[in-house]
Amino acid sequence: MTTAKKRLLTGLQPSGALHIGNYFGALKPFLDIYENYESFLMVADYHALTSSREPEVLRQNILNIVRDYLAVGVDPEKAIIFRQSDNQDHMELGWVMDCMVTVPFLMQAHSYKDKVAKGLEPNVGLFTYPMLQAADIALYDVDVVPVGEDQRQHIEYTREVVGKFNRAYGVELLKEPKELIYDGVGVVPGLDGQKMSKSYGNTIPLFGTTEEITKAVMKIVTDSSGEKPVNVYAIHRLLKSAEELDPIYEEHKGRYGDLKKMLAADLEEFIAPMRERRNQITDDEVREVLAAGAKKAKEISGDTLAKVRKTIGID
Ligand code: TRP
Repeated sequence: MTTAKKRLLTGLQPSGALHIGNYFGALKPFLDIYENYESFLMVADYHALTSSREPEVLRQNILNIVRDYLAVGVDPEKAIIFRQSDNQDHMELGWVMDCMVTVPFLMQAHSYKDKVAKGLEPNVGLFTYPMLQAADIALYDVDVVPVGEDQRQHIEYTREVVGKFNRAYGVELLKEPKELIYDGVGVVPGLDGQKMSKSYGNTIPLFGTTEEITKAVMKIVTDSSGEKPVNVYAIHRLLKSAEELDPIYEEHKGRYGDLKKMLAADLEEFIAPMRERRNQITDDEVREVLAAGAKKAKEISGDTLAKVRKTIGID
């Protein structure tokens, strides 16, 4: 007897070029587990609209994030890769979810509070963002949602609203998902030793050219103690074990330039095959993957939505 695989879904904001922090923090952990589940990889383009005002950039970013995932090795036969906006069931269930919760409940969301704290004027889409995310998940009877720590609360919100729905109608229809927090690799250090993040400008591009990689490595901040350059070593450790690196760092003590050159060469070796694969993936191929994914996704979500409609009296 075969037991059915559990369902996994995660959503990706199409927000531009990835860096190696994204790789070690999210893509790699996803690659390591996704085949153990029936996996869904969704491009959250409606979520991106809460901040995007540049149609051409968004259009490109949507195709690019899919290309990135294919290039690092996600097999579209083994994961349903689709775009949120290709399946309007997300919008519809999102509305139903909105109707289950109160304004004060949504006002507690970190994503909303952080924007307000920064003095930004939040749009209503940003405010109801967690309910669209809950719909993304609930439509597919998802068991686990692999996400970064910053998304933990959104999955808690999903559980809460799903529970509210089920209780309001006295049904056991929508499933409460569990978060699977990516933490195995910890925080990937950036060029300055802080967490690698686009907003800190301290990244190494995941699909960078040889020149871009070298340029980034040369910018790694080192101190003048003449010992081990900690930031160089920390990034190097993503690629090689301490056993491999320690003798080399001992031997080249204080020779920061040489160590940086070795790191740049190791990064190049790691990035080059993915970069080459990525360059060969055409827009048409990406569109085909998304079209096939949308069809499969819709078959599953349509079932859930029909049951929801029946439950709420809109059928
Ligand atoms: N909010 C997530 C992020 O910014 C993206 C996302 C949208 C998502 N829908 C999702 C993640 C559903 C997991 C499940 O990263």
